[in-house]
Amino acid sequence: MDFQSLGNTSVIGLQWGDEGKGKVVDLLTEHFDLVVRYAGGANAGHTVRIGAEEFALHLIPSGILRPNVLNVVGPGVVLDLEILSAEIEGLKARSIKVENNLQISNRSHLVMPYHKKQDRLAEANLGADRKIGTTFKGIGPCQADKMMRSAALRMHDLYHPETFRRRVAEILADRNKLFATVYGDNEPLDAEQMASDYLRYAEMLSQHVTDTTLTLHDAMSRGDRMLFEGAQGSLLDIHHGTFPYVTSSTCVSGGAAAAAGVAPSAIQNYIGVVKAYATRVGGGPFPTELEDPTGDKIRERGREYGTTTGRPRRCGWFDAFAARYCASLSGITQLAVMHLDTLGTFQEVNICTGYRYRGETLRIFPAELEVLNEVEPLYETLPGWSGDFTGIESCEQLPEGARRYLDRLEELLEVPITLVSVGPDRLATLHRDTSVMSC
Ligand code: GDP
Ligand code: IMO
Ligand code: MG
Repeated sequence: MDFQSLGNTSVIGLQWGDEGKGKVVDLLTEHFDLVVRYAGGANAGHTVRIGAEEFALHLIPSGILRPNVLNVVGPGVVLDLEILSAEIEGLKARSIKVENNLQISNRSHLVMPYHKKQDRLAEANLGADRKIGTTFKGIGPCQADKMMRSAALRMHDLYHPETFRRRVAEILADRNKLFATVYGDNEPLDAEQMASDYLRYAEMLSQHVTDTTLTLHDAMSRGDRMLFEGAQGSLLDIHHGTFPYVTSSTCVSGGAAAAAGVAPSAIQNYIGVVKAYATRVGGGPFPTELEDPTGDKIRERGREYGTTTGRPRRCGWFDAFAARYCASLSGITQLAVMHLDTLGTFQEVNICTGYRYRGETLRIFPAELEVLNEVEPLYETLPGWSGDFTGIESCEQLPEGARRYLDRLEELLEVPITLVSVGPDRLATLHRDTSVMSC
């Protein structure tokens, strides 16, 4: 990948999240002046491995690990201040600089403790069959309040303490009533305590809170280079994903500019991140899921346990039909393929190239759950590969099976693969020459 000629770039997950966006952002950060998280909230968990050190970032951009880069949390991110404060303290305790290199938008909406409680109560109320399988980070209830507007709180509200206290008391009076009447909950939350806690966090965070929209516009005028860090994945997108088993935000590329506060034309390059197989955490359809020893082997080899919740991730074959849909939703210009090492040791590997539904081959990833739950994935089988990828420095050194696999993914998705990851570490990454279009 020619980093120097990359324009402003956005990193987008093309599956159900956890594709390895954190690693890709960390790798690219040294070529940019700013890294901007623009969507989602603490439901995200982005892992960066540097030697023996592993960092799990939830709200802070993955660029924070490089001290000379400005990290911006944009207006589209919903902020749990308890988690944000703990994350900052955790990074500082590990000698990571978190000073004027972190800015937080004064327009960001607040995830309040009652949102997290509502998330749990709503999920429990849905029961095992219908629950979404959320991260319990209060994302849905916070986004719902944001859309309803009347009961929403934003970061800047914290700097008007008396109004903030009053509003928390009003909102909580209603919310406690709702919890009691709808969910039978009889442990009302305490408004005074909650407001005081949040005002304390606000004081701790005050040096970081600013109008980040101005920061980005100033950066653009200077010609600074910006990297936008997507959260979640396209199949979790509120409009285009496997609804209702999705998150409450826009995860496709179109959301980046809107949520960050720049014009769509300010972002020129969209890097789609995929794993060499597929994973999903939480409920919802997953046509290529492997509920068998092959799926278990992928989970164990890939350490597929949630970064945010620790839940085992569901694993399956790469779904090129779904990934192609996601790549076109976002106008993906380059692909990063992660976890090629994890897929090693199989005799054969499958790629899903299409779906059949009641005898018909579908043209596009279907909208209805009923269809998704019934589709038959159409597989193409390729020879597998084995061998230790440690020390491999170029794609040419990969086993033939792995190279053929990459070539086939590229053909099916019609987007050049420019980056291949063969281990969690920053250094376990291969750059792929796009002018050749094959390894
Ligand atoms: P994100 O949410 O998209 O940033 O991804 P996560 O961090 O939630 O999950 C990706 C996981 O895969 C993390 O544990 C990474 O350390 C790990 N990882 C990333 N790339 C590779 C790779 O190429 N090989 C292996 N074995 N692990 C990887
Ligand atoms: P990153 O950024 C994987 C999933 C949850 C659940 C659904 C809704 O690390 O890729 P929510 O708490 O958002 O209401 O849950 O979305 N989910 C993720 N899965 N990676 C994520 O983020 C996710 N963020 C949300 O598991 O199925
Ligand atoms: Mg993750």
